Amino acid sequence: MPTSLYARLSALGIVGLSIFVVWTPALHSQSQDEQTAEGYAITHSTTVEACSRCHTVDDQDRMSRISYLRKTPEGWQTSVRRMVALHDVNVSPEQARDIVRYLSNEQGLAPEELRPGLFEVERRLIEHDYEGDSAVEFTCIQCHSMGRVITQRRTQDEWALLMATHRGLYPLVDRQAFRGNACTGQPGCEEDLEGQSSHPMDRAINHLGEVFPLLTPEWSAWSANKRSPQLEGEWVISGYEPGAGPIYGTLTIRATESDTDAFTSSSRYVYAESGLTIERSGQGLVYTGYQWRGRSNPGTADELREVMFIERDQQRMSGRWFSGAYDEIGPDVILQRIGAAPIVTGVYPQALRRGETTQVTIYGGALSDTRDGAGLDFGPGVSIGMIEQSVTDELVVQLTIDTDAALGARDLFAFESTIEDAIIVHDGIDRIVVTPESGMARVGGANFPKGYQTFEAIGYNNGPDNENGTDDDLELGRVNVSWSLEEYTATFGDDDIDFVGSINSKGIFTPALDGVNTDRTGDRNNIGDVWVLATYLTREGRELRARAHLLVTVPLYMRFEPWRPIGPANNQRLIG
Ligand code: HEC
Ligand code: HEC
Repeated sequence: MPTSLYARLSALGIVGLSIFVVWTPALHSQSQDEQTAEGYAITHSTTVEACSRCHTVDDQDRMSRISYLRKTPEGWQTSVRRMVALHDVNVSPEQARDIVRYLSNEQGLAPEELRPGLFEVERRLIEHDYEGDSAVEFTCIQCHSMGRVITQRRTQDEWALLMATHRGLYPLVDRQAFRGNACTGQPGCEEDLEGQSSHPMDRAINHLGEVFPLLTPEWSAWSANKRSPQLEGEWVISGYEPGAGPIYGTLTIRATESDTDAFTSSSRYVYAESGLTIERSGQGLVYTGYQWRGRSNPGTADELREVMFIERDQQRMSGRWFSGAYDEIGPDVILQRIGAAPIVTGVYPQALRRGETTQVTIYGGALSDTRDGAGLDFGPGVSIGMIEQSVTDELVVQLTIDTDAALGARDLFAFESTIEDAIIVHDGIDRIVVTPESGMARVGGANFPKGYQTFEAIGYNNGPDNENGTDDDLELGRVNVSWSLEEYTATFGDDDIDFVGSINSKGIFTPALDGVNTDRTGDRNNIGDVWVLATYLTREGRELRARAHLLVTVPLYMRFEPWRPIGPANNQRLIG
């Protein structure tokens, strides 16, 4: 334990004593050999200058704590932010960005290591099922997603120090999760531990040190091979935005002269359903050779953050573009490089009725002129009529489905490639389902931002067996429904529906204002739960209904992320 750091710590009232009780022995408990085997030299002068006041540098250029971790750019950003907010570290925004970048590149995650945790960096609200150890999962998900855990690698000592940091910063965590009996309800567990500590915290340290260690073959291989990617060129975009449906378009990436990891981009895409065309321009920075972090239309109300994973062959990247106070708005995207060969990305509309002629658009890139209709094959029962438009990224064509065509999906053979399930032949919508099955919105607009929830209604056909709810049912995609709310009766005289907010014709729920509503009995907040109801009218005039549960809750008052501005208020980003 370097004295300067000890002094620094004791001067900081916020950090509880428990931190260095654990810290001191931990640092010395490793033998010299173990220390030499693990830990990365840090040779970046900005990092050394800004951080070595507290994180001492050893004779192999390793810095205490910092050299023994690997994280995503977001993970390193959190570390630097915490250093600024809690430990008064003085860095300029440029230095902070530089440090985050250096550490993400040199002590990052290999692509295989990040893949299972992509939902975390892509800011997806999903139910992640951690299969490593359910008791450890239970300990950690009391407060945050397991995504935060599986996107880091540390030495065993560093996992232990992280637990110590938790206890120092959030002393209640002991009672809440970390101490007690990790074996409760698990037969045989006590014997397995053979007299070791059974505190959940210790189980977590052992488990995490084993499954998420600092040194891995994946990282050694990736760091030996990694370099700046070559992304300049033309790409096709295909994606899906909840509430708006499929998007198709193209994107151009240009290299920048000064920086081999920095790029600019311009894109043009269309919402296939509404025909709305969007143009965006932006910039991106690639971390660790494969993690794209960008922004398009930066600084405008229309800004989208871009998080994408670049595949090793650099022919494809995918991820999410998003905005919103809870990162809840925006499309999932796939980008494919346009080379010499044509690429087909999708067909809209995808669900086509038996016995009808429909104009569909085939989207893609480098499509050649097919005005003579040659080279397109939609499979049995589907005939291709007039080609109305044929340009490099779009082909508009009339398709007629035979009255007796078999129900089911068809692959499209076109331009010497295949796109699976390009269209789906059906004979009507038999039921609808609302997704997500249960949603959550957060009141806001007064002191906190609103958290929106988007619902969609998906149509299904009974399939060949003509039975509802069986495996051969055909999913037909978004259908046009009318949306309404219904009381979810949880208490006598429940009146949530009058206060929680409203849903628009696109299925987007906008929550009401946060804070006490004096018009509501008991001066309550505008929170509550309701049913979201979708009603679909079939051609035969039959009403199909489906519903989902919606919880409208309070804002996320505490983000549990220490925060102090670094640099100008309008440019707080350290990544991308
Ligand atoms: C003024 C002292 C001080 C300076 C300067 C400082 N740190 Fe820290 N650092 C600490 C303390 C105290 C801790 C342990 C408590 C904690 O994790 O917040 C720590 C812990 C860390 C950790 C471990 C966190 C984890 O993931 O468990 C990282 C990483 C880190 N610092 C990075 C940095 C970087 C990068 C810099 C330079 C930009 C820096 N620190 C500068 C005091 C400092
Ligand atoms: C009492 C609530 C709570 C519990 C339980 C909890 N955490 Fe955390 N954890 C937090 C908070 C709050 C932060 C954010 C700290 C910050 O950003 O300064 C955090 C941050 C983290 C980070 C990122 C910190 C960094 O600097 O890289 C990791 C990794 C982490 N927790 C792991 C775990 C693990 C592993 C467990 C289970 C053994 C766990 N947490 C249990 C509250 C908790």
